[in-house]
Amino acid sequence: MSDNAKLEFKGEVYELPVITGTENEKAIDITKLRAQSGLITIDNGFMNTGSCQSKVTFLNGEKGILRYRGYPIEQLAEKSDFVETSYLLYNGELPTKAQREAFYADITKHAKLPEGVKNILNQFPADAHPMGVVSATVSALSGFYPEFLGPEATDEVKERAIAQLMAQVKIIMANFYRKTVGKDPIESNPALGYSKDFLNMMFDGEVDDDVAKALDTLLILHADHEQNCSASTVRVVGSSHANIFASISAGIDALWGQLHGGANQAVLEMLEEIKADGGDYEKFIAKAKDKNDPFRLMGFGHRVYKNFDPRAKIIKVACDTILEKLNVQDPLLDIAKGLEEVALKDEYFVQRNLYPNVDFYSGIIYKALGIPTNMFTAMFVLGRLPGWLSQWKELREDGTAKIARPRQVYTGETERNYKDISER
Ligand code: SDX
Repeated sequence: MSDNAKLEFKGEVYELPVITGTENEKAIDITKLRAQSGLITIDNGFMNTGSCQSKVTFLNGEKGILRYRGYPIEQLAEKSDFVETSYLLYNGELPTKAQREAFYADITKHAKLPEGVKNILNQFPADAHPMGVVSATVSALSGFYPEFLGPEATDEVKERAIAQLMAQVKIIMANFYRKTVGKDPIESNPALGYSKDFLNMMFDGEVDDDVAKALDTLLILHADHEQNCSASTVRVVGSSHANIFASISAGIDALWGQLHGGANQAVLEMLEEIKADGGDYEKFIAKAKDKNDPFRLMGFGHRVYKNFDPRAKIIKVACDTILEKLNVQDPLLDIAKGLEEVALKDEYFVQRNLYPNVDFYSGIIYKALGIPTNMFTAMFVLGRLPGWLSQWKELREDGTAKIARPRQVYTGETERNYKDISER
C-alpha cells in the first residue's frame, strides 16, 4: 500500500506523498500540489497545516504529552534546571558537566548591557508596558552588535545568540522594573545562578532557594512549545534571513497578545475582577459560555491540548507548595481552583475540551514572588527565549528552508477601469 494520498478533483487524480514522523504523525506533503493541479489549500489559523519538520519539541494534545528533545516535561521540571534545559533545547542533548559550565560561563560573559542600550531603556516612561520595552530594546541590540547582522547564521552568531540573549533579556527586564519602582538597577551576579540572579536584580536582598527553584521550574515549563504563534513568528521572520534580534523581537510581539502569552496577565486581571465582583465565579462561567458576551475564561482552552496541559498540572502543584512556603494566603488561588472545578464539570467546557492551560495558574506564582502583573508576559519571554532560539537555529540550519510566503484566495473586485474624480 503506497504511502501516498490521492486527491481527486474534476476527474483528475493527484498523488501526494505522505511523510511520517518519529511519533508516527503523518502529513500530506503538498509542495507540488499547485504545480500539478493549480490548486492551493487554505486553513484558517493553520489548524491543520504543518509549517516544518522539527526535532526540538514533541507534544500530543490528545494525550497531554510534552517532551523537549524526547525528555518528558515532568522529568525536566523535577530533575533539571533552566540553564541545562536551555542547553538541551538548543543543542539537542543534555550537557556534560563541562559543557554546562562552559555554557553558563558564556551567559556570564554577556551579563551586561552596552551603555547606549541602558540609555534607550531609560527613555521609556515608567508606566510603559514591559512587553513593548523588552521587544523594542531587543531589536535595538541590533544597533550595538553589527556582527550579528550578516546574511549568514555563522557558528559564532549561533553560539553567542543564546548565551547573549539569555543574559541580556534578563537584565533588560530587571533594570526596567527597577526604574518603574524608582530604584537604581542592580548589577547581574551570575554566581547566584540564573534564576536567583534575576530575582536579586529585581528585588535586591536575600533570595530564598525554594523561591528561586519555583521560578526556575516555571522557566523550564515555558521554554518551548513547538510551532505556537510566537515560535512560528520567529521562524517566519528568520526565514527572510533577518537578524536574530529582529526575529526574537517579533516573537516577543506575537507573544504579547491576550490569546497567547498575554493570557497570564489577563488571567490575574480576570481573577481580580471576579474577586472585586464578590467572588461569584459561577457568574463568570456563565459569561464565558454566553456567545453574546465577549468574555472568555482566560487561561482556559488551547489550540493543541484537548486534554490537560501537562504544564498546568505541574504549576498548580507548585502554587500550593510555594504559597505555603511563603505563608501566602491568596484568595485568587481559591477562586482559580473554584473556576477550574466548575468548568471541568460543565458541558460547555467538556464538549469543547477546554482545560486550564499553562497561563491559568502561573500568574498566581509570579504574584507570590512579587512580580508585578504587567510583567507576567515578559516572564513568559524569559522562559521562551531558548525555545525561540532553538526553532530559529533549526530553521537557519535547514538547507531546504524557504522564505515563508503563503498564498491566498483573492475575493475582492475583479478588474475595473479607473474613473476620473468628476465621474465618481
Ligand atoms: C498559550 O499554541 C501554544 O502552544 C500556545 C502556548 C505556548 O506555550 O506557546 O501553549 C501558550 O498561548 C496558551 C493559551 C493562552 N490563551 C488563553 O488562555 C486565552 C483563552 N483561550 C482561548 O482564547 C482559546 O482557547 C485559544 C486561543 C487558546 C485557542 O483558540 P482556538 O484553538 O482558535 O479555539 P477557538 O477559539 O476556535 O475555540 C473553540 C471553541 C469556541 O466555541 P464554539 O465556536 O465551538 O462554540 O471553544 C470556545 C470558543 O468560543 N472557547 C472558549 C475558550 N476557549 C475556546 N470559550 C470560553 N472561554 C475560553 N477560554
